[in-house]
Amino acid sequence: MENKPSKRAAATSSVHGGELRQQEANAITTPIYQTSTFWFKNSQEVMDYQEGKTDREEYGRYGNPTWRAVERKLSELEGGEETVLFASGMCAATTTFLALLPVNTHLIVTSDCYRRTRQFIDEFLGRMGVSVSVIEPSNLAQFEAAIRDDTSIFFTESPTNPYLRVADVPGFVEVAHARGVKVIIDSTFATPVNHRALTEDADLVIHSATKYLGGHNDLLAGTVTGAKEIVDPIRKALGVLGGIIDSHGAWLLLRGLKTLALRMERHNSNGLALARHLEAHPKVRKVWYPGLESHPDHAVAMRSMDGFGGVVTFEIETDLQGAIRFIDATQVPYQAPSLGGVESLIELPVTMSFWDYTPEQRKSWGITDSLVRFACGIEAPEDLIADVDQALEHV
Ligand SMILES: Cc1ncc(COP(=O)(O)O)c(C=O)c1O
Repeated sequence: MENKPSKRAAATSSVHGGELRQQEANAITTPIYQTSTFWFKNSQEVMDYQEGKTDREEYGRYGNPTWRAVERKLSELEGGEETVLFASGMCAATTTFLALLPVNTHLIVTSDCYRRTRQFIDEFLGRMGVSVSVIEPSNLAQFEAAIRDDTSIFFTESPTNPYLRVADVPGFVEVAHARGVKVIIDSTFATPVNHRALTEDADLVIHSATKYLGGHNDLLAGTVTGAKEIVDPIRKALGVLGGIIDSHGAWLLLRGLKTLALRMERHNSNGLALARHLEAHPKVRKVWYPGLESHPDHAVAMRSMDGFGGVVTFEIETDLQGAIRFIDATQVPYQAPSLGGVESLIELPVTMSFWDYTPEQRKSWGITDSLVRFACGIEAPEDLIADVDQALEHV
């Protein structure tokens, strides 16, 4: 018996969604099924399974009951039919593209996609004859103009990194579906607690579950959620390409997801408090946070999101050396890539995620030497603010 009434709040779905109430030995939690394969009692059972008469596991690359609980929980949270779990967010994205893109097709992406997603699209899909148009984030007019007869997929993150641009999903979906184009949203920065793109008719939602879904900076995972019809070929591709999570990682994710709604409340309130504080600080030139009236997508965010997340991007009134003095003086956040865990993380995009690029490329994306990305954890807001204030004195 699965513990899944139809519609309930994210706080309840986080805890109970996807969990089987009747577990072995009346346990409350889902076990870690540490097995690579699953045995059949006799040949009849094998044949029944092959003919789809029984619902069970066969071999570890095709599924495991611990992952299944995660998949069901996320489907419930996203309001989607089916979820597939992967070893990482990149695995989720690459497997999805490989499974869904026809040959010699056209893809539209936004310019601020995660750099490894862009690298996969440019280097790997390019070799397979997929052509790509890159549009500005949130730019519906540019999107409409970029659609061609052979366009098959539109892919964007929402919110994006590092400027947290928020896509008007219903607007993109309306234009895309009228031209037979599928819409895929990387919702890593939003989580299903803050935004549910499937309920706005997006075709698929992708997550790097490494971030908020896992939530403890202790695992890597990825997910794809959508209607069964579109998810099935992705699941089959995973069985071939093999980018599966191990059952212990899946169990950590299942455990992390139980506190997702609770954690998001604090990520959201910390993000908003820090963004407001920084916006009023004399040493800060500009702050990007969708919850601020000054953000270009504030109206869309207010309409479509229930919270704006923990990531705050800001530019300090200084040069690279001043920004380095600031970041090295912070004492609460760790200087590290990633976001969404209980520990706050901080980075200078110029020395971390955008280091590989030329100054011209960075300039084209607006990545300046004094830009900071602060991914709030769940610490007390007054401690995050006090720490940032003392660090800004070093600028
Ligand atoms: C928005 C977004 N999507 C996908 C990824 C890739 O996820 P992973 O690191 O789990 O492979 C990242 C990683 O930073 C990301 O920020």
